[in-house]
Amino acid sequence: MDSLDKATQLTRRRYDRASRFYDRMEGLLEKRGFRDWREQLWSMVHGSRILEVGVGTGKNLPYHPAGTGIIAIDLSSGMLRRARGRAAQSAARLELFEMDAQHLEFPDASFDAVVATFVFCSVPDPVKALLDCETGLATRRRGLSARACPPFSASTKTAHEARQSLCG
Ligand SMILES: C[S@@+](CC[C@H](N)C(=O)[O-])C[C@H]1O[C@@H](n2cnc3c(N)ncnc32)[C@H](O)[C@@H]1O
Repeated sequence: MDSLDKATQLTRRRYDRASRFYDRMEGLLEKRGFRDWREQLWSMVHGSRILEVGVGTGKNLPYHPAGTGIIAIDLSSGMLRRARGRAAQSAARLELFEMDAQHLEFPDASFDAVVATFVFCSVPDPVKALLDCETGLATRRRGLSARACPPFSASTKTAHEARQSLCG
């Protein structure tokens, strides 16, 4: 994590700062639909070893499937601190780590499913992160991702294509 490039360091600083008000800022959107949508998304997640990328403040934790093992990572220690405070809301065996999605530190094929919600638009090299996620998936290949913004730049367009190949 010490050798992060400048863009990734900037992203981390932004989310460390935002972690203090992130939940309040998004409260209305959550109430108006994101919660239902999160529940629906997680109902499609199967497997015993699941990776959640960019867990943020832990808004998905209440929807984690019971009895599964979930490793959740995030770049920002500030966001992770909030997620740790919510750990009891997860029905899974949850482990949280500070890690860069562009350099996942797991052996290949470690996970049955990889989930990321509203993450890849903030990752400087989303294609690298998606390819790392794909490498982390075991043969069942189940990648679930959602984006909050349209693929407006060249890198997010390529990421969108990579995401479609991963999610099938
Ligand atoms: C918009 S928030 C979404 C948080 C959460 N997934 C949700 O649905 O509320 C994006 C999250 O991605 C994390 N993130 C951004 N770049 C990352 C990277 N390279 N590796 C891991 N996490 C990253 C941020 O720190 C932040 O917590």
